[in-house]
Amino acid sequence: MAFDDPGRRVVEGTDPDVFAAIIEPEVGAAVWTRPSPIQDREFPAWARPAKDEFTALPPWLSADMIVLRDQLTHLGLGHAWRFTLETVTTRACPRFHQDALKLRLITAYRGPGVELATADDPDTVLRIPTGSAVLLKGSRWPGVPKLLHRSPPARRSRPRWLLVMDLVD
Ligand SMILES: [Fe+2]
Repeated sequence: MAFDDPGRRVVEGTDPDVFAAIIEPEVGAAVWTRPSPIQDREFPAWARPAKDEFTALPPWLSADMIVLRDQLTHLGLGHAWRFTLETVTTRACPRFHQDALKLRLITAYRGPGVELATADDPDTVLRIPTGSAVLLKGSRWPGVPKLLHRSPPARRSRPRWLLVMDLVD
């Protein structure tokens, strides 16, 4: 079972409390399974907003970013989260990899979510649904889990709207 092995396990839940599972050594990713909170057709092409710049964003988006920021800061793993908003029209990272970070949260508000697999079973792919928020351990997390991820396909006619939050301290 690719996603039950130590360090690779994916924990899913319909409540954001599921993120707390990320501190467990056997967990590689925690997924808050939910519908996309998208409410209109507005999204930045690219932005790296600071906390006090959320009000310049569409209200549904700033509200969701605040919810996610609060959930992640409550984990007590660090308070410096860097936000990146991006409209993606190509398959940015087609190969399975780990990011050189401690933690990264990825949400696709529009279009398919990120794809997960393990190094020794790359054919068993777990596709994160649109709107769900996945918190992933990167290669700088102590213990180095081996859960990998890659971008799903995207096209100009079928863009993906992404929020990425990186723990930077
Ligand atoms: Fe990545």
